[in-house]
Amino acid sequence: MAQVDAYDVSGDVDYDKLIKEFGAKLIDDKLAKKLDYPLVPNLYFAHRDLDTIIKKKFAIITGRGPSMNMHLGHMILWKFMKHLQDKFDAHVFIPFSDDEKLLARGLSKEHVIRMDYENLLDIIAMGYDPKKTEIMLDLVNMKQEVYNLAIEISSHMTANTIRSAMGFSPESTIGLQFYPAMQAAHILYPSQKLGVPTLVPIGVDQDVFVKLTRDVAEKVGLPKPGDIMSKFLPGLTGNKMSSSKHETAIFTTDNYKTVKKKIMNAFTGGRPTVEEHRRLGCETSVCVVCKYQALLFQDLDIVKRCAKGEVLSGENKKDLLEKVWSMLELHQEKREKAKDQVKKFVPELSDYEPK
Ligand code: TRP
Repeated sequence: MAQVDAYDVSGDVDYDKLIKEFGAKLIDDKLAKKLDYPLVPNLYFAHRDLDTIIKKKFAIITGRGPSMNMHLGHMILWKFMKHLQDKFDAHVFIPFSDDEKLLARGLSKEHVIRMDYENLLDIIAMGYDPKKTEIMLDLVNMKQEVYNLAIEISSHMTANTIRSAMGFSPESTIGLQFYPAMQAAHILYPSQKLGVPTLVPIGVDQDVFVKLTRDVAEKVGLPKPGDIMSKFLPGLTGNKMSSSKHETAIFTTDNYKTVKKKIMNAFTGGRPTVEEHRRLGCETSVCVVCKYQALLFQDLDIVKRCAKGEVLSGENKKDLLEKVWSMLELHQEKREKAKDQVKKFVPELSDYEPK
C-alpha cells in the first residue's frame, strides 16, 4: 500500500486515486497548453484552481526543506519555477523551512543552516531574477510580517485539525504541530504583500499544506492559493528516490565518477541477452534510464528506439550519462559563482563559511 503524506512517501503511488482522495483535478490538455512546458501534464499532472489563478496576475511560491543536499528530482522543480517566472512575469517567493526540518527530522540547527547555505547555492544557480525573487530562511532571516501572519493563521487552526490532516499524535511536539501555520504563512505572504493570489508548484506530498492553507485563507482576509502538483521522479535503483539513500539519486554536487557509477548501476528494462533485447526491446515502463531520458531531456526518440531494441540499455546509459553530466557540469559552475551572489539574496548568510 502506498502512503503519501508530508513526512512519509513510500510504496507504489496510484496518482489518479490520490488525486480523487485529495479532491484536486487533473491538468487537461487545454490547461497544459497555457503553461507551455514539456513536463506538463506528464510530470506536473494535477492542480487546485490553476485555471482561474493564471487568468490574472499571481505570485509563485514554493519552499525548500533543507535537510540534505539537493538532487535532480529537486532541480526539476526549480527549473519549472524559473519557467513560470519568465512566462508569467511573476514574483517568486522561496521560503526555506529549516525550522521544519529541525522539528520533523531531529536535525541540529547547525546542520540545517549548513544545508540552507548549500541548497541556496543550487537555487541561485538557476538564474532567478533577483528583483522579482525573495528568499527567506525561517531560522535566519524570517520577516516579521510572516511570523505575524503565522500567528494569525494559527488562531484559526485547532490541534485536532492539524493532527488529523498531518497524521500527528498527541506525543508530537507542539513545534511540529505549529509548523503548518508557518507553511501557510509562507504560502499567503506574497498575497498579503502584493495583493494577488499565489500558485504553489509542489510534489504531491506537500498538497496537504496547501489544503490547510486554503481552509484558513479567507478567514485572514486573503485569497485561496492554488497549486500545481508533480509526481515523483523515480529513484535510479527503480525504487523511490531518497536523499538518505545516495545510490537512488544524483546530487547536484556529485562528481563525474559518482554520476557515472550511479547511472551505470541504474535499473533498466533491458533484457538478459543482446539477442533478446534486439528481439523484444526494452521494457520501457520499468526502465529508469528511459524515464530520465523522457523526463529530464524530453528525448522520446531514444526511448522509442530502446523500446524497439535498436538501442541497448548500456548504450542508453552512456547517452544519459553524457547528457546528465553536461547539464551538471554547467550547473556546478553556476553554483560556484552563486557564492558571490548569496549577499544579494540572503545578506544574513553572506559571510557564512561551511565547516
Ligand atoms: N515543507 C516543504 C518541504 O519539506 C518545504 C516548504 C516550506 C514549502 N515552505 C513551503 C513548500 C511552502 C511549499 C510551500 O519540502
